[in-house]
Order: sequence, then C-alpha cells, then structure tokens
Amino acid sequence: MDFNIQGKRALVFGGSSGLGLAVAQALAAEGVDLVLGARDAGRLETARAQIAAQYPVRIDCASADMTQRADMRALAERLRGDGGIDILILNTARPPSPMRDFLDEEEDRWNEGCSQQLMAALNALGELTPLLLGKGWGRIIGITSATVKQPMPKHAISTVFRAGVAAALKHLANEIGHQGVTVNAVAPATIRTASLTTFHNLEQRAAALPLKRLGTIEEFAATVAFVASRQAGFITGQTINVDGGMTLSLS
Ligand SMILES: NC(=O)c1ccc[n+]([C@@H]2O[C@H](COP(=O)([O-])OP(=O)(O)OC[C@H]3O[C@@H](n4cnc5c(N)ncnc54)[C@H](OP(=O)(O)O)[C@@H]3O)[C@@H](O)[C@H]2O)c1
Repeated sequence: MDFNIQGKRALVFGGSSGLGLAVAQALAAEGVDLVLGARDAGRLETARAQIAAQYPVRIDCASADMTQRADMRALAERLRGDGGIDILILNTARPPSPMRDFLDEEEDRWNEGCSQQLMAALNALGELTPLLLGKGWGRIIGITSATVKQPMPKHAISTVFRAGVAAALKHLANEIGHQGVTVNAVAPATIRTASLTTFHNLEQRAAALPLKRLGTIEEFAATVAFVASRQAGFITGQTINVDGGMTLSLS
C-alpha cells in the first residue's frame, strides 16, 4: 500500500538505533525525507549511511539531547530555516536498567526516568510542534510503552512517566487537531530489539503472549508508518499497542 507521504519530511528522535532506526527506514521506504536525531553524532552518521544506501531520500542528522530544552530550541530554529518538518517521531531513551520493584527504586533513578522519558518528550514537543502548524497537515507520533495500558512488574518508572507522555499527547491532539495535525502514541512491548535481549526471561515472556512469539522491529515500524500515512488521517489522540496481545483489557 502506498501511504501517500512521499516528499514529506520527518524528524525521528532515537533514529540512530533500535526502534527509531527501524521507523526511519520504514518512512524512507515511503519516500519520506529524514532528520535523524540523537546525541551521538558518530552513531547518527552510521545510521544515515545505512539508510542512504537503501533509499534515495534526503537525510540530515541532528546531534541534540532531548533532555536539554536549549538543544530542542536550537534544533527547531535550525529546521525552521531549513524547510521545516511534517512528521515528528518522539522516541526516548530506555528507563534505567536493571528494572526494579517500586519500593526498590531510588530517587536518582526516578529523576533519570523523569528527565529521559517525560521531560525529554515535553521539551521536544514544546519546541518542535510549532514547526508542524499552519500547513494543514502533520503527524506527531510518540513511541511510549504498552505498560501505559497494562503496567508490568518492575516497570514503574516506565509506566509513571510514559503515562505522562500519553497525557501530554492527548492534550496536544485536542489542541491542534483543527490544524490537520494528528497526535498519537504507538506503544511497544516485547519487540525483539538488541536492548530487549538483556532480559533473561524473553522466551517466558513470549510464551505468555497470545501470539506466542516476540514482535519484530519491522512490524513495529510498519505500524508507525501507517499512523503517519494519509490513510490514518482520522486517527488522533490514541495509543495503539504493538504488543502481541499482551494487554488484556478491551482498549
Ligand atoms: N522493545 C520493546 O518492546 C519496548 C517496549 C517498551 C518500550 N520500549 C521503548 O522504546 C524506546 C526505544 O527502544 P530501543 O530499544 O530502540 O532503544 P535504543 O536502541 O537504546 O535507542 C534509543 C535511541 O534514543 C537515543 N537517545 C537516548 N537518549 C537520548 C536523549 N536524551 N536525547 C536524544 N536522543 C536520545 C539514542 O541515541 P544516543 O544515545 O546517541 O542519544 C538511540 O538512538 C525506548 O524508550 C524503550 O524503552 C521498547
């Protein structure tokens, strides 16, 4: 299916690794120009070269730290003078590792989670959303976690702060829908990434899912690309889980 977003430009945070890189590749396959955002310039350049070898789209890199509001402001300024963006993919660092029970969490880990999961998203949304306004079309997609709908053991930091991100996205969806900009979250769980393999109970987690297997990064990225598509234009304010059926509630 042609998603009808050829020629659009997407800023993909976390575009140098894992799910973010896979989303960037899926968008490039649709003919979307890219700005890859992350902190490490070397890893960004490696990702840029990898995608450029596969797809004939324009790819720029933006070395910036989402936890630093000034970085987001400077990036917005740069992009404003450089063609802007139509699609914003918010993707943040993983929560502190190893995961712990709530009562074993410590203040510095809560602060790190707050900074990396919640404030990073708020900084990026606050500074970069204005770039999507006034054009009649846009997509904002936050990569959160299925733990927002079904809290998982030892995931309190992820649940608490990503619920905040989901709330922020919902507010924004309500405020800017009239501009033709949809705002959604795509929430992964048990997607096989390099970082997930640090869990010792992977096979056990897979066996507990209705689908009895882990998800692939391609399946996750294809869902994000669909939410970015023109065809998904009437979906906004939603969290769409890509979790192999892990979430047991009705919605
Ligand atoms: N796999 C799953 O099933 C699953 C489930 C639930 C949630 N998630 C979430 O999905 C997200 C992506 O996971 P992943 O495995 O793809 O992670 P990953 O491979 O560690 O990639 C994280 C990306 O974010 C960038 N980044 C980290 N901190 C940043 C910052 N402060 N500013 C800008 N960029 C930053 C990293 O580059 P730099 O380090 O160079 O900045 C990297 O590009 C994570 O938040 C993870 O918790 C995944």
